[in-house]
Amino acid sequence: MMLSDRNSGSTSVNAFADRLADAGIWERAGARWSSAEKKTLICCRVVDETHDVKTFTLSAEEGLPFSFEPGQFVTISVEIGGQAVTRCYTISSPPTRPYTLSITVKRVPAGVVSNWLHDTLHPGSSLQVYGPSGVFTPSSHPTRKSLYLSAGSGITPLMSMTRAGYDLGLNRDVVFLHSARTPEDIIFRTELSQLSASANLLKVLHVCEGTGFEDNWKGPVGRLSLELLERQVPDFREREVFTCGPAGYMKSVRNILVEGGHDPDRYHQESFDIAAASADDGVTAAPALPCDVTTGVRHSFGVRLARSGRTFTMDDTETILAAARKAGVPVPSSCGQGLCGTCKTSVLEGDVDMQHNGGIRQREIDKGLRLLCCSRAKSDLVLDL
Ligand SMILES: Cc1cc2nc3c(=O)[nH]c(=O)nc-3n(C[C@H](O)[C@H](O)[C@H](O)COP(=O)(O)OP(=O)(O)OC[C@H]3O[C@@H](n4cnc5c(N)ncnc54)[C@H](O)[C@@H]3O)c2cc1C
Ligand code: FES
Repeated sequence: MMLSDRNSGSTSVNAFADRLADAGIWERAGARWSSAEKKTLICCRVVDETHDVKTFTLSAEEGLPFSFEPGQFVTISVEIGGQAVTRCYTISSPPTRPYTLSITVKRVPAGVVSNWLHDTLHPGSSLQVYGPSGVFTPSSHPTRKSLYLSAGSGITPLMSMTRAGYDLGLNRDVVFLHSARTPEDIIFRTELSQLSASANLLKVLHVCEGTGFEDNWKGPVGRLSLELLERQVPDFREREVFTCGPAGYMKSVRNILVEGGHDPDRYHQESFDIAAASADDGVTAAPALPCDVTTGVRHSFGVRLARSGRTFTMDDTETILAAARKAGVPVPSSCGQGLCGTCKTSVLEGDVDMQHNGGIRQREIDKGLRLLCCSRAKSDLVLDL
């Protein structure tokens, strides 16, 4: 696989993807573990990263290596109170250490799965995990100069990219600017400082909203701003930007970059925040469509579930997942953004408009499968549910 390197203007023999491909990692990807296939993984290590963040390291029962791209996520499925619940977690470990896979999870107040993981998963326990998915990877946007911007647990995909680049010996110019509440909340702080000490083109910076208990904090205090970016990363306009964090943070990053004259085509983001992009119930990330622009009329459609025989009505401004939830029909879902594939369902009759983000393959679409979290009805429907 040869990818053209936008910065050098030539076809790069050293592009990130090429190096991984050379190592045989791409070829193994997907063939062994697809995002539709559930595997039982065994927890082999739990590390406290901060007071509310833990890393869980998992290995395959059969001891086989994992294949994925840095920046991808897995979907886990756990049974809580007799119900299967799924959530996405980015793989924080790099594909260059393929015999284990780590997820780094922040405990969310009142969060169902993050608390379950923190309180229940320990070395020796097993976890049901669907294969890697997602397009937030540097191989999709090869470049020689990057700016990684993250906040909170949004550090995980960028950490996988940083670790992979280090392990591969890529001499790429990366500035990694992470925002945290206080110095004690900085995830991977020690490792990042060790990596930047030994990789001369990796510069790591932290900006904290407050100093917390660390009286001798020497880094910037406050929030990311254009002024801070200009000061810390004066060449940010030349860099491919990868950003991940809460929705509010990413919105502010986008505004700062636009204001600073950064090329929007060189901006890439991953959102962990389902509720923030929600149209109605905190599940649907795809924006609600206005009613018919020509007539101003909302169309109402009937939905029948072939297996349970249940029926409900919905209109074309809401996603099928949101309408099913409203009708009290449980549909497995996780990302709510057309990314993870958890809500994939066969549409047996009728037409839908689907705007996905890579969570479904063309061959699955050809077979009649659709992602309900990002599909809207265009006619009456019969679903294989
Ligand atoms: C692609 C992707 C990658 C991700 N990677 C990571 C990662 O690397 N690390 C990480 O920590 N997270 C990651 N996430 C987020 C993760 O999937 C979960 O969303 C997160 O752990 C919270 O899940 P939970 O079950 O604990 O919380 P939930 O139970 O889903 O609750 C989330 C929030 O909503 C509130 N809430 C829940 N139900 C209600 C209700 N009925 N009314 C009002 N409020 C309610 C809760 O109080 C909580 O604040 C990722 C998400 C995506 C989509
Ligand atoms: S819930 Fe992730 S694709 Fe629909």
